[in-house]
Amino acid sequence: METREAKPVIVLFAFPLQGHLNPMIQLANIFFNRGFSITLIHTHFNSPNSSNFPHFTFVSIPDGLSESEASNPDVIDILHDLNSKCVAPFGDCLKKLLSEEPKAACVIVDALWYFTDGLTENFGIPRIVLRTINLSAFVAFSKFHVLREKGYLSLQDSQADLPVPELPNLRMKDLPWFQTEDPRSGDTLQIGVMKALKSSSGIIFNAIEDLETEQLDQALKEFPVSFFSIGPFHRYVSASSCSLLTQDMTCLSWLDKQTPNSVIYASLGSIASIDESEFLEIAWGLRNSNQPFLWVVRPGSIHGNEWIEILPKGFIENLEGRCKIVKWAPQPEVLAHRATGGFLTHCGWNSTLEGICEAIPMICKPSFGDQRVNARYISDVWKIGLHLENKIERLEIENAVRTLMTSSEGEEIRKRILPMKETAEQCLKLGGSSFRNLENLIAYILSF
Ligand code: UDX
Repeated sequence: METREAKPVIVLFAFPLQGHLNPMIQLANIFFNRGFSITLIHTHFNSPNSSNFPHFTFVSIPDGLSESEASNPDVIDILHDLNSKCVAPFGDCLKKLLSEEPKAACVIVDALWYFTDGLTENFGIPRIVLRTINLSAFVAFSKFHVLREKGYLSLQDSQADLPVPELPNLRMKDLPWFQTEDPRSGDTLQIGVMKALKSSSGIIFNAIEDLETEQLDQALKEFPVSFFSIGPFHRYVSASSCSLLTQDMTCLSWLDKQTPNSVIYASLGSIASIDESEFLEIAWGLRNSNQPFLWVVRPGSIHGNEWIEILPKGFIENLEGRCKIVKWAPQPEVLAHRATGGFLTHCGWNSTLEGICEAIPMICKPSFGDQRVNARYISDVWKIGLHLENKIERLEIENAVRTLMTSSEGEEIRKRILPMKETAEQCLKLGGSSFRNLENLIAYILSF
């Protein structure tokens, strides 16, 4: 009897934060569509909904996070806790998976799982790393030790506008910054992540190298490993959602009632939080702009509040349908909707890339990590958005929305983002950079 050849297996280890889970599951789908079997290891904490992906094998490992550790507002602390608590469960899980046939070709881990450095090699299996940021932010992070040594990361406000000699596109205030009580904890994270990247068998980026050729050259000089920029991931397959929060689909019927390109969509992603006064300034700024707006306010993202209870009574009603506030949105669909014309964003890389792919110009309000680098690129390098650089004030928001949505400056910004969208489409087509890089990546994995 003819025996069917078993598909090669790839084991992926997802990091349990929304901005990391999305690209890892999208990557898993890309490999599945290219004939691989997928085993996805995930933690109990923030575990994805496996029923949305019946074509994958899901393996859950205990992460040992207590309730108080899991709700720690210091995300860097959570990252370290997960890295120390998952060593044994991940090791046991991998050992078991590797004893099964067919043996996995490689393990793909999120870069934040820095503890896997050396561990996978002990099992004799190649480790490829998924870095969920773009190449420009990657280069900035890779110079981290120099930036720290030169004191750039602890400069006073008066030096914030100085250029960074080592990173010509950035000013001191654009450098990556960690939201943590203890700066040493951010340093330890960076050192661990860098070491684990350098010892890996390759790095995959959800990025488009045609948009960042200089940065790719720079990164390759510092990293003696293979790079595969194969983004934008979400454009390969229309996959089910791996949203950890329930997406409010009523956004889409509300958008259906708005005129084309009229709506400003506002969201600060899955981690960033703001204080009450910033929230109210954004609320009044959006309202006073007179544009319709769809605003995602994640529960718990306003310090000291459950949700939007501090909004003045009647705020939403008085806008007579011109505003919709939800807890979580189907973001890719919202950005793709014909009514959406602008994006007030925290500049997480997934959001930025999703915005570029729909040619939606942006207003940047970055918080931490790579978001500041992305904001600088959006506003001053690619010039596809405006940057809210000062303390959040209603007039500043109102003016930014008006400029983006109704002025000739906004029109110019809109024109500049169109070729970027085009590049994001072309790179996936036969002969395009991401197309070629994916072919190379698959050949590389099959050669192990
Ligand atoms: C984090 C960091 O903040 C970011 O800088 C880094 O690049 C990745 O990890 P996050 O804050 O979650 O990411 O932002 P982002 O990278 O933009 O990812 C958010 C994801 O959630 C996007 O894919 C977006 O489509 C999705 N999302 C967001 C929703 O599905 N619904 C929403 O309402 C908001």
